[in-house]
Amino acid sequence: MTMIKKMPKESGIDHTLALLKEGYPFLFNRRQEVDSTIFKTRILGQQAIALSGKEAASLFYDNEKFRRSDAAPKRIQKTLFGEGGVQSLDGEAHHHRKAMFMTLMSRDGLNEMYEIIDKELTAANQNWKKENHIVLDKEIQKLLTKAACQWVGVPLPDKEINQRTEQLADMFESAASIGPKHWKGRKSRKNGEEWIISLVRQVRNNEMAVDEDRALYTFSWHRDLDGNLLNEKIVAVELLNLLRPIVAISAYINFLVLALYEHPEERENLKNTDNENRFEWFCQEVRRYYPFFPFAAARVKRDFIWNGFTFKEGTLTLLDLYGTNHDPNEWSEPNQFKPDRFQEWKGSPFDFIPQGGGEFNLGHRCAGEWMTLGVMKRCLSFFVHMDFELPEQDLSYSMTEMPSKPKSKIIMQVH
Ligand code: HEM
Repeated sequence: MTMIKKMPKESGIDHTLALLKEGYPFLFNRRQEVDSTIFKTRILGQQAIALSGKEAASLFYDNEKFRRSDAAPKRIQKTLFGEGGVQSLDGEAHHHRKAMFMTLMSRDGLNEMYEIIDKELTAANQNWKKENHIVLDKEIQKLLTKAACQWVGVPLPDKEINQRTEQLADMFESAASIGPKHWKGRKSRKNGEEWIISLVRQVRNNEMAVDEDRALYTFSWHRDLDGNLLNEKIVAVELLNLLRPIVAISAYINFLVLALYEHPEERENLKNTDNENRFEWFCQEVRRYYPFFPFAAARVKRDFIWNGFTFKEGTLTLLDLYGTNHDPNEWSEPNQFKPDRFQEWKGSPFDFIPQGGGEFNLGHRCAGEWMTLGVMKRCLSFFVHMDFELPEQDLSYSMTEMPSKPKSKIIMQVH
């Protein structure tokens, strides 16, 4: 007979304010306080179960136990995700839609993206050299917007680059904000969706020439499990599920450059190495060490008992991504930046989860994780050999802003 245990519980009425105040380490701090990798808390006015660490992550990615359909708060759907996209699907409908994304991530598809990135970096660098200084965050966001549009097949006239970059960045920069920044994010999502819907219409009406391998074409003509074309708004949401996160890689590129600056010995190692793996270890450590997504959310699909703890149908469940990447049970000196640790990493799908964990095709793990790592590696090779200086500036970054970035947004002099 299963022994039922009482789930440890954080005391207090609601912890949303503490979450906003503490930011990324919020769940990990509570885990330490209650001395359990699984505990109850209350945030956003509802009871939630928090899970942290490798074992709990493997539970979270069990599709039989958790669903996503009603997990994301409205304010996140209205800015970051959009409504009706792959993030909110379950079961067969999710597998079918996810396959639409994963077919783009073939070796050829990814290599094509890396070629675009190399070309754009070389062109941008020529312009950067002519400037007194550049703001790296802004430059990389523009570069990634151009690259994303090329890769997806979306036409981007020069005069629209700034506007579209801002719209795409607003969607991920506003998700956790309140007040005017949040409302700007909602407006950008609305305008961004209208922009893409008009392109989907043109593709469907044969009014636009687009390469049949591009996502703009394949998503526009994708059919659901019943053989129907997707609603044009859903196509736009899914195309923005490519464009927006590609631009969001800029957050990791900021941290790549910050890490090179703060660890000059690592930069020297990379400059002189003939071991390509070192580039990968460095990028992985950037994704492990620096903050990006704090947690992923799901709801209990039906009542079940796990390790003696009862999970009730419908309960919001949060998986601590940041805390799991800093779990002292898995990572020695987790708060030190040490790329070489990845030499020993066994590749578990549950202990290193900056972009979610588990399986790509059947689960909700990030569809763009390989691309993210690949783009970071291209940028790292470039910056390691680039002649630049970072003048005096505030490079500190917040643990409460999501996504976080150095305060100065990285002012750079390029020689
Ligand atoms: C910028 C760095 C990125 C970070 C930190 C990131 C993070 C994440 C996270 C945490 C999830 C949710 C995992 C879960 O719910 O269990 C996710 C899902 C997703 N990501 Fe990313 N991502 C990034 C880049 C990308 C890129 C470049 C793409 C596409 C080109 C992408 C496309 C997606 C999609 C489509 C999903 C939904 C997957 C599903 O629900 O099955 N992401 N990402």
